[in-house]
Amino acid sequence: MSIQRTLSIIKPDATRRSLVGKINAKIEDAGLVIIAQKMLRLTKEQAKAFYKIHEERSFYEDLCSNMVKGPIVVQVLEGDNAVKVYRDTMGATNPANAEPGTIRHEFGESIDLNSVHGSDAPETAAQEIAFFFSQIEICRE
Ligand code: CDP
Ligand code: MG
Repeated sequence: MSIQRTLSIIKPDATRRSLVGKINAKIEDAGLVIIAQKMLRLTKEQAKAFYKIHEERSFYEDLCSNMVKGPIVVQVLEGDNAVKVYRDTMGATNPANAEPGTIRHEFGESIDLNSVHGSDAPETAAQEIAFFFSQIEICRE
C-alpha cells in the first residue's frame, strides 16, 4: 500500500459539455478520493507556467490556448497508488488510443481536447498540487 496524491484537471472542453459529474463518478468508481476541488479560469500566463515542461513542443501554444478557453476544475485525488490509478482511469493521451471505459475514451474529442490532465509521477504531482492549492484547501490532513 502506498497512499499517494495526484493532481487532476478537468479541462475546458469537458466543463463546456457539463461533464464534471460524469468524470467525478469515474474518479470515485476507481477508488480515488477527491480531497480538494475548485473551479477557476486560468490566465494565459498561468497556463504557460503550468505546462512549462512542454514549452519546446510543437503543441505548446495550442495546448495553452485550449486551457484558457473556459473554466477548469482542479482536484487533488488521494488513494493507493493514485498517480498510476488516475493515469489508467484517464486513458491514453490520444482518445483514439484510449481503452474503453476510460475518461478519454468516453469523453475526449481529440488529442488536444482530451478532457483531463493527470500528474505523471509523485514528484510532479507534489509540484502541480502546490501550483493550485494551499495547505488549508486540502482536506484529510
Ligand atoms: O496529458 P498527458 O500527460 O497524457 O500528455 P502530455 O504528453 O503530458 O501532453 C500534455 C497535453 O498536451 C495532452 O494532454 C494534450 O492535451 C496535449 N498534446 C497535444 O495536443 N498534442 C500532442 N501531440 C501531445 C499532447
Ligand atoms: Mg503529461
